[in-house]
Amino acid sequence: MSMAFYVHIPYCVKRCGYCDFNTYTPAELRDGAKSVSTVSAGYVDALISELDFAQNRLGPRQVSSIFFGGGTPTLLPPEQLGRVLSAIESRFEIAKNCEITTEANPDSVNSESLSKLREAGFNRISFGVQSIKSHVLQTLDRTHDSTRVGDVVQGAKSAGFDSISVDLIYGTPGESIADFAESVDFALALPINHISAYALIVEKGTKFGASVRRGEVVMPNDDETAEKYALIDARMNEAGFSWYELSNWSKPGYESVHNRFYWLSGDWWGLGAGAHSHIAGERWWNLKHPKSYIDTLEASNSPSAGSEILSEADKEIESVMLQIRMREGLALAELTDSQRVALDSFYQRGLFIAEAWRDGRGVLSLEGRLLADQIVREVLSH
Ligand SMILES: C[S@@+](CC[C@H](N)C(=O)[O-])C[C@H]1O[C@@H](n2cnc3c(N)ncnc32)[C@H](O)[C@@H]1O
Ligand code: SF4
Repeated sequence: MSMAFYVHIPYCVKRCGYCDFNTYTPAELRDGAKSVSTVSAGYVDALISELDFAQNRLGPRQVSSIFFGGGTPTLLPPEQLGRVLSAIESRFEIAKNCEITTEANPDSVNSESLSKLREAGFNRISFGVQSIKSHVLQTLDRTHDSTRVGDVVQGAKSAGFDSISVDLIYGTPGESIADFAESVDFALALPINHISAYALIVEKGTKFGASVRRGEVVMPNDDETAEKYALIDARMNEAGFSWYELSNWSKPGYESVHNRFYWLSGDWWGLGAGAHSHIAGERWWNLKHPKSYIDTLEASNSPSAGSEILSEADKEIESVMLQIRMREGLALAELTDSQRVALDSFYQRGLFIAEAWRDGRGVLSLEGRLLADQIVREVLSH
C-alpha cells in the first residue's frame, strides 16, 4: 500500500498574529538573528535520522506524496530540502507520479531559489498568499506585500512548476466582500490550478486572538463569511475549477494527492518537530521544540512524544467527519439507521445533492457545505 511523508520545517522569520502552528522565530529560538540558517543543517540531519526509524518500522514501501510544510520550508536553502528528498528516495520506492510539494511564503523565494527547488525534485508549490489587499495583510500581520505575489507565482511557472496552488484566508476583520472578490480574481489570473481558501480561525493564545478578546477587532458574522464562501465557489466554477473538499478547489486532475492521504485515513509519516503520523491505525506525535527534537535524535532516540491506537468507534467518527467534507461524499450504506434518518432530514432541506443521494452517496450541496459542521455534529450525535 502506498504512503505519504509530511516534513515539518518549524521556522518563520516572524510569527503572523493569527497563527498557532508549531513554528519558531529567531527571537523565540533565543540565540540571535542567524539562528534559522545556523540550525537548519542540524535540523535536516535530525530529519534524516528520523527517516532511519521510519525505514526500520515500515520496511519497503512505495511513496506517492511528499509534502514540506511549516512554518516556512523555503527559509531553508533548497539544497537542504533536497537532502531530505534524496534521503527519502534512497530508503523508499518513489512512485512514478509522486507529488512532491513545498509550501512557500511569497517573500521567501525568488527566481533562483524556485529553479533550485525544481532541480531538487519538487513538482508542486503552494503559496501562502492569504489576501491581495494591503490592509487585510496588515491585520493578519503578514510580512509580504501583495505586489510580490504575481512575480513569484509567475517565477514558479517559469522555473517549470506545473502544479501551483495558492492559499487564501477570508473573514479577516475589515475585509469587505469586494476586497475578497479582488483577492480571488487576482489569484485566478495567475498561472495556478489549485486554491485552498480557509475562513480565518481565531486561535486562543495568539496575538490576534488577544485583540479579538479585548474587542480591538471584531470578527465578521456568519452570514458574511457564508457570502464569501459562496462567492469563491461561484468564481472558481466560472474559471473551470471544482471543489473536491470543502476548502479546496482545483482544475481537473490537479486535486492534491497529499490531502487525500489525510482525508481518506491513509498511511502517512510526519517527519520533524511536533509532526503527527498515522500508520496502520496508530497515531503518534513528535517532541514539539526543534531543540529537543534534534537533541533526541542526536542521542539516537526516537522523537515520538506520545501515541494512541484508534478504536473502531474513533475511526468511524473520523471517517464521517472527513468524508462528508469531500466531493465523493459519505457512503450512506455505511451509516447506522438513526444516522441515515438524521441525514435524511437535511436531504429534505436540500443540503445534499439529489443525484448523488439516489446513487447512495451523501454529497453536500452548496447550502449543505455552508452548514457542514452542524450536519456532522447532528449525524455523530446519533
Ligand atoms: C501554517 S501555514 C504554513 C505555510 C506558510 N508559512 C504560510 O503562512 O503561507 C499553512 C496555511 O494555514 C492557513 N492558516 C494558518 N493559520 C490559520 C488560521 N488561524 N485560520 C485560517 N487559516 C490559517 C493559512 O492559509 C496558511 O497558508
Ligand atoms: S508564515 Fe505561515 S507558519 Fe509562519 S507564522 Fe505565518 S502563517 Fe504561521
